[in-house]
Amino acid sequence: MLTATQLSKTYLTPAGELTVLRDVSLRLNAGESACIMGPSGSGKSTLLYILGGLEPPSTGSVDLGGTNPYALSADALAAFRNKEVGFVLQDHCLLPQCTVLENVLVPTLVGEADSGAAERAQSLLGQVGLGQRLHHRPAELSGGEKQRAAIARALIRNPRLILCDEPTGNLDAETASTVGDLLIAMHARQHAIMIVVTHSDALGSRFAKRWRMDRGRLAV
Ligand SMILES: Nc1ncnc2c1ncn2[C@@H]1O[C@H](COP(=O)(O)OP(=O)(O)OP(=O)(O)O)[C@@H](O)[C@H]1O
Ligand SMILES: [Mg+2]
Repeated sequence: MLTATQLSKTYLTPAGELTVLRDVSLRLNAGESACIMGPSGSGKSTLLYILGGLEPPSTGSVDLGGTNPYALSADALAAFRNKEVGFVLQDHCLLPQCTVLENVLVPTLVGEADSGAAERAQSLLGQVGLGQRLHHRPAELSGGEKQRAAIARALIRNPRLILCDEPTGNLDAETASTVGDLLIAMHARQHAIMIVVTHSDALGSRFAKRWRMDRGRLAV
């Protein structure tokens, strides 16, 4: 289960304090998903970073499967992010010098040796429709294919939490639709929790839980 309780986030800027999240609480069980929609600057990405262990909240707490990531040591927090959280961002962030297969394996290179990783990566790449592209480099892929590879990379450690920040934001409508289908299908197989931030009504309408962020407040 993922719970966030009364999160707030205030940045100290040269112009003074800037509060970008106010009293945000949410809860999702394993297997559930939700989308977050709302205007630019309303705090959606900030919330995802806090939930994913990338940015501590100013007040409030996060609990994923019984762990509060911000109570962990720096090493344990890094391991938590690597194992428990998969991110899919608007930009695929694939390493240009590595093949598709190598990119998917990157998260498995830290921590203890993961002997089944290569097999799992190939299986995941088959599931996302890239079974024939294992040895291509990112520059040799279409935009939709790069996002598919990024989805496989996000899932390679079987994370408890999948966080997607405008995952179809750079794609044309048709490609966005197939990548959206893929995300939803992959989530359904994983028994993970998934939160998708999107500006796309077409993608947002696919979620039973549609949450709205407005000026730092989340209406769940
Ligand atoms: N490190 C930071 N320091 C100061 N202000 C920040 C910082 N990060 C984000 N902000 C501010 O917090 C607000 C929320 O930003 P955030 O990126 O969460 O918005 P968003 O809802 O994801 O917007 P978009 O839809 O454009 O991606 C913005 O006004 C932004 O300028
Ligand atoms: Mg954002």
